[in-house]
Amino acid sequence: MNHLLMTERLVLRPVTAQDHAGLLAHWTGADVRRFLFDGEILSAEEVTGIIEDSTLSFAAAGHGLWLIREKDSSDLVGTAGLRPLDDLGLEVFYSLAPAAWGKGYATEAARAVVEHALGPLGLPEVLAEVDEGNAASVAVVERLGMTAFESVPGLLGPMTRYRRVR
Ligand SMILES: CC(C)(COP(=O)(O)OP(=O)(O)OC[C@H]1O[C@@H](n2cnc3c(N)ncnc32)[C@H](O)[C@@H]1OP(=O)(O)O)[C@@H](O)C(=O)NCCC(=O)NCCS
Repeated sequence: MNHLLMTERLVLRPVTAQDHAGLLAHWTGADVRRFLFDGEILSAEEVTGIIEDSTLSFAAAGHGLWLIREKDSSDLVGTAGLRPLDDLGLEVFYSLAPAAWGKGYATEAARAVVEHALGPLGLPEVLAEVDEGNAASVAVVERLGMTAFESVPGLLGPMTRYRRVR
């Protein structure tokens, strides 16, 4: 199965072991890790584990972690994907390199992931969990048309959970 997702400006493809150094640098940047991993600096081993889990998940279920690049470039601009949210279902998550903020890329990539999940993959719903202090991410889920359904405590303060149903 072809897991490539194309949008107007972006190409999303499953991450591979060759992306390890780029992902480690991207996710450990202070502005990116703050809300994505509660500030934790991922180790090289953890990044290896995330890539391996994603590869297994694409093979078994058709989704995992996509690397985002612009159509006319091979550079990593960010990541988007689906991951389990407790035992509630799958949440969409996304990150962009700070140089790529403010262009609509996160919304464009996350929309492609959500529509792939609810369309071809046939999932009944997609969730999101966003720190209330992460205004840029709150704006992304609102642009995706997701609906807030509960607030839960998090390490950095309250987090809002959202869903979009098929
Ligand atoms: C969350 C994150 C991805 C949001 O990035 P972002 O660039 O603000 O979001 P988008 O890519 O959707 O861009 C939206 C902005 O681009 C602007 N924009 C410019 N050109 C645009 C275009 N052609 N189309 C759409 N929007 C455009 C929008 O107006 C909007 O600007 P605003 O924030 O001033 O209103 C980014 O802050 C990030 O990577 N944070 C670290 C990781 C993280 O926290 N992830 C979420 C965990 S829940």
